[in-house]
Amino acid sequence: MCGIVGYVGKRNSQNILIEGLKKLEYRGYDSAGLAVFTEEGLQIKKAKGRLVNLENKLDVEPLNGFIGIGHTRWATHGKPSDVNSHPHTDNSQKFSVVHNGIIENYVALKEELTALGHVFVSETDTEVISHLIASLYEGDIVKAVQKAVTRMHGAFALGVLTEYEPDKLVAVRYSSPLIIGVGEGENFIGSDIPAILEYTRNVYILNDGEMAVLTKDGVELMTLEGNFISRELFYVDWDIITAEKAGFDHFMLKEIYEQPKAYRDTMGSRIDESGTKVVLNEVKMTAEQVKSIQQVHIIACGTAYHAGLVGKSIIEKLARIPVETDVASEYRYRSPIITPNTLVIVVSQSGETADTLAALREAKRCGARVVAITNVVGSSVAREADDVIVTWAGPEIAVASTKAYTSQLIAFYLFGLYLAQTLGSQEAEYIASVVSELKELPAKVEQILEQGEAFKDWAEQVASHNNLFFIGRGLDYAVALEGSLKLKEISYIHSEAYPAGELKHGTLALIEEGVPVIALAIQDDLFEKTVSNIKEVKARGAYVFGLHAEGETELVKAVDQVFSIPHTLPLLSPALSVVPLQLLAYYASLARGNDVDKPRNLAKSVTVE
Ligand code: F6R
Repeated sequence: MCGIVGYVGKRNSQNILIEGLKKLEYRGYDSAGLAVFTEEGLQIKKAKGRLVNLENKLDVEPLNGFIGIGHTRWATHGKPSDVNSHPHTDNSQKFSVVHNGIIENYVALKEELTALGHVFVSETDTEVISHLIASLYEGDIVKAVQKAVTRMHGAFALGVLTEYEPDKLVAVRYSSPLIIGVGEGENFIGSDIPAILEYTRNVYILNDGEMAVLTKDGVELMTLEGNFISRELFYVDWDIITAEKAGFDHFMLKEIYEQPKAYRDTMGSRIDESGTKVVLNEVKMTAEQVKSIQQVHIIACGTAYHAGLVGKSIIEKLARIPVETDVASEYRYRSPIITPNTLVIVVSQSGETADTLAALREAKRCGARVVAITNVVGSSVAREADDVIVTWAGPEIAVASTKAYTSQLIAFYLFGLYLAQTLGSQEAEYIASVVSELKELPAKVEQILEQGEAFKDWAEQVASHNNLFFIGRGLDYAVALEGSLKLKEISYIHSEAYPAGELKHGTLALIEEGVPVIALAIQDDLFEKTVSNIKEVKARGAYVFGLHAEGETELVKAVDQVFSIPHTLPLLSPALSVVPLQLLAYYASLARGNDVDKPRNLAKSVTVE
């Protein structure tokens, strides 16, 4: 996730900005930059890669001044490069902007500004903001920013400077966090508290739709419409480690709670303004190429493979094309039948997993077109695939993947809908209804997260066991596999995910008095069948925790404890039903006293075969 720092005061801003950015390094980034108002006017320095690259440039040509903004970028629109790094400026180079979030309508704004003579140098959505503000400036930067934000759709936290008013730093928050740090004779902005904690513990937390105007002598808070706000200062008593996790005990929990935002960002500009269809500009296949697809192979490892299992159902249901999902380490050694009419989808959070990359290369060698679903722009997988759908989940720090998995599901929904639209395999009305339900998912995840603590109790009961089962049918089984992996990898409890109807072919022998079984009974059409299977394990003494969709009244009679998730289309339910399982794994790991974020024997990115 990108990081923002801003400073106005009496000290050399360059040092404060660099130190602030260093405190945000843990979040992951691929380039960095500063804009400072110096004796020569507004000056910008940027560098791809680690902060030290920027520092080396600043050693040669320092930016001396008392007001500035800084940024660490995690690429979303455009590869990591000097030119795509923030801060961005306009053609007059009098305005400078740092931005976190995504501008959904940046293409339309860019076209409009280009027609007015603006020339763009980067691939980013952010550059549009600096041009937009410049085009609206009539002697008052606050008014220009207020006008600009009325034109922008999406999520944004902004820091804005102009050479015309060199004592002011303007900050905006809209669906992307931003805080204001208040010092003596100096004030700060930060996307996160660690960025400013060394300098002040007094902060204003901006709410969505609010902005701030900072000078060295004070801070004015107002709404984006310009109505002044008075607010109590918040005193931060966190240490730096707590601050890095935004007050959560672990990155995993923070990332579980970031999922609604990750869903919204990943859908972002990919749903058209009418809200009835999907626009996937990054997929460059022609309609003829889409129509020529005879089979799809989805290849991935671990959690990404589990996303691929859901992806299979999505594509088969929406596009009516046969799909095989395979573990990358198996795929290339089984002589898969790949033809030029095979579309291969590789899924990888990191984009660097050796097995996935090798499978991608094998697919390309056999002449298949490859679409990558990845969280890292510029990763090996992204560079080598023909088309790339980036999941905008932001960096995932915890080893156990959560928000990356669910963002991969969102990417599959978008891609499945795109295929269906192009092939005409579904009625426009049906597609519109799926899109509409898709947009509801973030709020529904929020509802689940509000009850997150409920899983502490389940987890404590589960944590004393060494073996348990997850069961489900259809998509519930695909989610059960992910729930089981999550539990294994961080709690070290052995668990198995089983298709509920398959237990009777042997595994039922392992069900004895008190064995915990997590039963997913979300899929409407399979509900009764699943309940019968639950009765089979109950009859052998299992203790069953059930998950069902809101409004369902039957499951409660068949299980020992039950949790309901909000109702959605069965096809979309994995994006909800996995969340309780992530929380269960998290709290079980905690109950066992494990290091949740750094499980034993696992690495975040597996770059060996
Ligand atoms: C589990 C987990 C791993 C990864 C797998 C693939 O929580 O994180 O199973 O999903 O190693 O990694 P990527 O997606 O980076 O290719």
